[in-house]
Amino acid sequence: MGAPKLDMDRILDDRRTRIIVCCGSGGVGKTTAAAAIGLRAAERGRQACVLTVDPARRLAQSMGLTSLDNTPRQVDGVDTSGGGSLHAMMLDMKRTFDEIVEAHADPDRAAQILANPFYQSLSSSFAGTQEYMAMEKLGQLRHSDEWDLIVVDTPPSRSALDFLDAPQRLGRFLDGKLIRLLTVPAKAGMSYMKVLNAGFAIMTSVLTKILGAQVLKDAQTFVTAFDTMFGGFRERAEWTYRLLQAPGTAFFVVAAPEPDALREASYFVERLDAERMPLAGLILNRVHVSPAARLSAARSLAAAETLDTYDRSDGADGADGSGPRYGVAAAVLRMHAERMNLGKRERRLAEHFTSAHPAVPVAEVIAQPEDVHDLDGLRVIGTSLSQQRS
Ligand SMILES: Nc1ncnc2c1ncn2[C@@H]1O[C@H](COP(=O)(O)OP(=O)(O)OP(=O)(O)O)[C@@H](O)[C@H]1O
Ligand SMILES: [Mg+2]
Repeated sequence: MGAPKLDMDRILDDRRTRIIVCCGSGGVGKTTAAAAIGLRAAERGRQACVLTVDPARRLAQSMGLTSLDNTPRQVDGVDTSGGGSLHAMMLDMKRTFDEIVEAHADPDRAAQILANPFYQSLSSSFAGTQEYMAMEKLGQLRHSDEWDLIVVDTPPSRSALDFLDAPQRLGRFLDGKLIRLLTVPAKAGMSYMKVLNAGFAIMTSVLTKILGAQVLKDAQTFVTAFDTMFGGFRERAEWTYRLLQAPGTAFFVVAAPEPDALREASYFVERLDAERMPLAGLILNRVHVSPAARLSAARSLAAAETLDTYDRSDGADGADGSGPRYGVAAAVLRMHAERMNLGKRERRLAEHFTSAHPAVPVAEVIAQPEDVHDLDGLRVIGTSLSQQRS
């Protein structure tokens, strides 16, 4: 048995692959995987663009991502001899939101929206905005058709796959009761009190009391202005959503070989399936391989125990200050056992995942001795991703 091996290079070399999305729970290596995949694709001849969210600073620097200008920049130091190239950008959520407003509203109205305090708080704090903006930017990049492969990193969402919910959530927000409540008075002008029922008038007066008249007015103008471009907004979100379901898209679920991360990964796999999003495989990142040693964990521990008894029978707790004679050897044996067990434990977890999802190909990436913060480090990850032993 065992999981099918993931054939990363086949996916990268297939020109029909146009979008790769790396998703997974927080801290598992989504950004690292996305950057490594983009680099490998570029060095295999693709015109690749990596859309990252919050890369670690050193990694960002090594990819030339020093300014947040929301446009992809060419990455230096990439081997372009195969005819490929690598661009990268860091998502600036607020800037992306502003750009949508500018694209969908006429200049006066756009200026009005951008200056509105409600817009400003919505654009930087609405739950799901970051996820939604990642989708929006992807839509823009794909629409421009400048790259033949776009690799998308996703934000660390606590609740899995928030970025898929984001368009609907934003839609619900804009369609919702609160919005209706706020837009009606603005549309009806000064005489609105007369046309509204008593319940509504009370509601409005309560809101005015709580929020203050100016705040309510701001909210009303914002929502009314926003309403006019809502159609374009929703259309765009639906286009991107369908793009994600298309056969040219490959989703990778990234997970660490730990119970929580793999539980989340299972959920991601099921959710992608429910949304009919094409899953290409699981990237099991930071795995530890048990040393290829003859001494098993059990025998190693038994040997350590034996050394302890020698020390005890020696009474070598150091009347002469020398300490236990075999103490160091016993500690080394215990570390060896721990390494053997860690690899085994991870293997069991991976098998557990595979028994629940037998058709999902898996690529394992070995835990590197240090953080991945430059192109060489990314190449090592890329190679590891592509060389799955069978
Ligand atoms: N295979 C690996 N070996 C060693 N270190 C790794 C490996 N993969 C990732 N890392 C390191 O782990 C840290 C987290 O990785 P990364 O930023 O890619 O995770 P993430 O899933 O994007 O996190 P977040 O959810 O916060 O965005 C980084 O410091 C990265 O260098
Ligand atoms: Mg990240």
